[in-house]
Amino acid sequence: MMKIYDKNIEEFVDELINSLRKIIGDKYVLAAVSGGVDSTVATYLTWLAVGDRVKAYIIDTGFMREGEIEKVKSLLESMGLQVNIYDASELFYNSLIGKSDAEEKRKIFRELFYETLAKLVKEENADFLVQGTIAPDWIETTGGIKTQHNVLTQIGIKPELKYGFNLIEPLANLYKDQVRMLAKYLKIPEEIRERQPFPGPGLLVRCVGEFELEKLKALKNMTVLCEDLLMKIDASQSFLAIFKKPRMTTSKEISDFIKEVKNITGIGGRGFKTFEFYERVTGIKGDSRVYSKMLGIYYKEVDLLLRAKDEIVKVFPKILKKHTRIAIMVSEPRPAGKYAIAIRAVKTSDFMTASVPYVDIKLLQNIVDEVMKDKRITQVYYDITPKPPATIEYE
Ligand code: XMP
Repeated sequence: MMKIYDKNIEEFVDELINSLRKIIGDKYVLAAVSGGVDSTVATYLTWLAVGDRVKAYIIDTGFMREGEIEKVKSLLESMGLQVNIYDASELFYNSLIGKSDAEEKRKIFRELFYETLAKLVKEENADFLVQGTIAPDWIETTGGIKTQHNVLTQIGIKPELKYGFNLIEPLANLYKDQVRMLAKYLKIPEEIRERQPFPGPGLLVRCVGEFELEKLKALKNMTVLCEDLLMKIDASQSFLAIFKKPRMTTSKEISDFIKEVKNITGIGGRGFKTFEFYERVTGIKGDSRVYSKMLGIYYKEVDLLLRAKDEIVKVFPKILKKHTRIAIMVSEPRPAGKYAIAIRAVKTSDFMTASVPYVDIKLLQNIVDEVMKDKRITQVYYDITPKPPATIEYE
């Protein structure tokens, strides 16, 4: 029998549904659903509790993957839920173009997200908003790692005062694997249950640094092209992110690092190149957030570097003080083009810590071939940094 904390799952679900009924009474609820397992389970439980008095909405922020909204709507409808789509993409784009700072982008996103929901709550005459916040979301936000788009009360924002609705978060004390257990018990389709997590701010936090529509368009295009290949990586989460093309770099610290890599792995000498990314990326040191640089490394025998990734990752924090991430360039660098792509893949069960899997060089090469069809892309990297010291996303 599956258990969540000390309870049998059946008892756990019954208690959740009863408490939802008690809280909601005879009022109406708006559910913000994205098609991820967390928001789907939260919405479905609420639907089991109060039936059609829950109005489910997908907010089209413009940052979902191509075709995703329609796919999610039809999956949710196959479970019996009625789902509305609200297109807010213009509002999101207009407010975010030109913004570069990760936290500023996240905070603007959060504001627009809740302003939009507040408007819909009012239009639907609802009193509550239900959302699928889980424990790591608020732990990382209150811990100052990053502002998750779906955390309010835990950081002292009172939604009833600011937005005019009360918040219900039925899963707030659970972790992803427990939510997946609930989804299994509730017979939620496997496609949703086992779906890789996708951050609420979506591709916004994967257009690293300054937000431009062209960057987003290129990333959306690439994400579609590479989706099947990315799914072949043995990972809990795998995705692409886009950056401005990094420049070659060197410094005393970097030379020391290269020497140490050579000592430990035997890889180095002529043909070993280093690249500095312009953007800062998020990471974790101790319990707090860091926002610093990523170093790209290149060696003509890419597979040798990939196989030595764990040793390289161990060495770099001891020597490189400005960098929180290391990524191996897996393409032959080409001079033209304005953007670079990073392939990110991690293995984890709780998403609080994560390791990076070794990926077969042929599979990486296939991804590179797809990505490089877009002439705007000039370099492709595979990020080898675990969490910590990196985070899974870049912002
Ligand atoms: P990080 O980057 O914090 O990611 O190591 C941990 C997990 O959380 C996802 N993530 C988010 N999910 N809203 C979400 O719903 C967010 O703002 C957000 N930021 C990160 C991330 O994709 C990973 O699975």
